[in-house]
Amino acid sequence: MRILSGVQASGRLHIGNYYGAIRQFIELQHEGESLYFIANLHAMTTVRARGALEEHTFEAAVAFLALGLDPNKAILFRQSDVPEILELYWILGTLVPLSHLERAHSYKDKIARGISPDFGLFAYPVLMAADILTFGADVVPVGKDQLQHLEFARDWATRFNVTFVPDYNPQDPSGRESGNVPAVLKLPVARVQERTAIVPGLDGQKMSKSAGNTIDLFADDAEIKRRIMSIKTDSTPIEAPKPLDTPLYKLLHLVASPDDFTQIDASWRSGGRGYGEYKKQLLELFHATFGDARRRRTELLADRGQIERILRAGAERARAIAAPIMQEVRKAVGLC
Ligand code: ADP
Ligand code: TRP
Repeated sequence: MRILSGVQASGRLHIGNYYGAIRQFIELQHEGESLYFIANLHAMTTVRARGALEEHTFEAAVAFLALGLDPNKAILFRQSDVPEILELYWILGTLVPLSHLERAHSYKDKIARGISPDFGLFAYPVLMAADILTFGADVVPVGKDQLQHLEFARDWATRFNVTFVPDYNPQDPSGRESGNVPAVLKLPVARVQERTAIVPGLDGQKMSKSAGNTIDLFADDAEIKRRIMSIKTDSTPIEAPKPLDTPLYKLLHLVASPDDFTQIDASWRSGGRGYGEYKKQLLELFHATFGDARRRRTELLADRGQIERILRAGAERARAIAAPIMQEVRKAVGLC
């Protein structure tokens, strides 16, 4: 089983990114051949400050490694180091109906948030489909917000196969049942982490960089404390039971071990402890959970050359997987 996913290099990572995405990637590295990449080409649709793209890309790679990605097991690479992706992006683009891109949620959301539309933003899902199909990924772990992109990737892969693979039967994509020729582009399956739905931010809304309500994984100790202490609470008295639908309760649930949470949950429901105490406990749990990763990150930051070497080695391994697939693609289209 080949597992693939990407994260955009668009700035600091927060615990929403961790529980919603990265944790799952790190767990999955033991389940199959896994490829993870920093989507720096995608990030170009929003990151334009000088030097920022390079810095964010580097930061994201360091974060993956600090959080437990083993570069000898999983393949970690930079999207822009694999030019095959951009080649497939163009080829797929010639088959993508404009109407699909016009109804892309992520495009519409970004425009609603005031990002001015350009070709790159519009074509974002085509590049994402190319990311996945270039490597023949079987499984793509993503957040719920990315499901439409996965549907597009499956649809466009099917269009490619129907158009360019003689006798291809879309009802039998592997060609196993009918003896037909198998697909050139494999149809990927999305895997959504249901356990962690949406991680709430300090204000109870979805935690998000753009909302300014995050707890960042790698902020300094004082900032982490300030953030946790400012989680929005109400005026329920200390003795009273506390409401469950609140960001503090949900964050404790995420960060605490099941045993710790059983105790937290009991006192939360019966009353007797104040919000201040729970916030202190969340702060301790945060450091217990992420302390090692935070220390590892500091060590990794000291050796930029080593990160670069890991990314280059990852790109080489990734290109070795892409090469035979792209050879088939070129042959099917008539480019060679
Ligand atoms: P942001 O909203 O902060 O810009 P991104 O859109 O870059 O974050 O998200 C990167 C990954 O992290 C995606 O897979 C997304 O599903 C996940 N993610 C981001 N925020 C949350 C959240 N609050 N809860 C759960 N998952 C999240
Ligand atoms: N669009 C994804 C996000 O914002 C990141 C991404 C780019 C990706 N290419 C991908 C995820 C390919 C999975 C597979 O989270």
